[in-house]
Amino acid sequence: MGSPYSIDHGSNWRRRAVEDWLWGLDLVSPGVRERIVTAWVSAWVSSPHEALEDMVFTPGTPSYPLMAHVNEVTRAGLDLARRAEADWGAAFDRDLLLPILILHDVDKPLLYLRDGHTALYHELPHGVVGAMLLKDLGFPHLVVSTVATHAGNAPFHGRTPEAHVLHYADLFAADHALRRMGRTPFYLRRGG
Ligand SMILES: [Fe+2]
Ligand SMILES: [Fe+2]
Repeated sequence: MGSPYSIDHGSNWRRRAVEDWLWGLDLVSPGVRERIVTAWVSAWVSSPHEALEDMVFTPGTPSYPLMAHVNEVTRAGLDLARRAEADWGAAFDRDLLLPILILHDVDKPLLYLRDGHTALYHELPHGVVGAMLLKDLGFPHLVVSTVATHAGNAPFHGRTPEAHVLHYADLFAADHALRRMGRTPFYLRRGG
């Protein structure tokens, strides 16, 4: 079994496509911006998806574009962080918070197909593959650990303010995607 992804520093047209898509890149320092773009380009190149538009939030028909979900999470997360800063005296480093928001689902192109899952989906959990990729790219431990444990079915979530913000921004945006797909949003589900 080979590596589930390869790091891609080239692919200039792909870098431009990723830069055109991602919201919030202007809020981080240049080095972090480059690393965020490299992470998404690497996931895209290593995935079965030809176009960014083919990446899905979750398998199913109709599907919801992962591109939309990612930007929704980034914007909602930044709004929540600003609220927490204004009302709770919290402080968020944009160079840590933004990569967490923008990259939390970076492994989905490697796991999800429009109507099913890849082989990798059955080898490693969502979040863990992304964390491996981000670790390889040299992201700080807070980014790696928060992405690794963010999934709804992860054994536990991080205890940091960044994990708190990601959790609610992700659920808020995920419920929008589920409603658009005609599926039951998390907030209307009852524990079984
Ligand atoms: Fe996720
Ligand atoms: Fe997500």
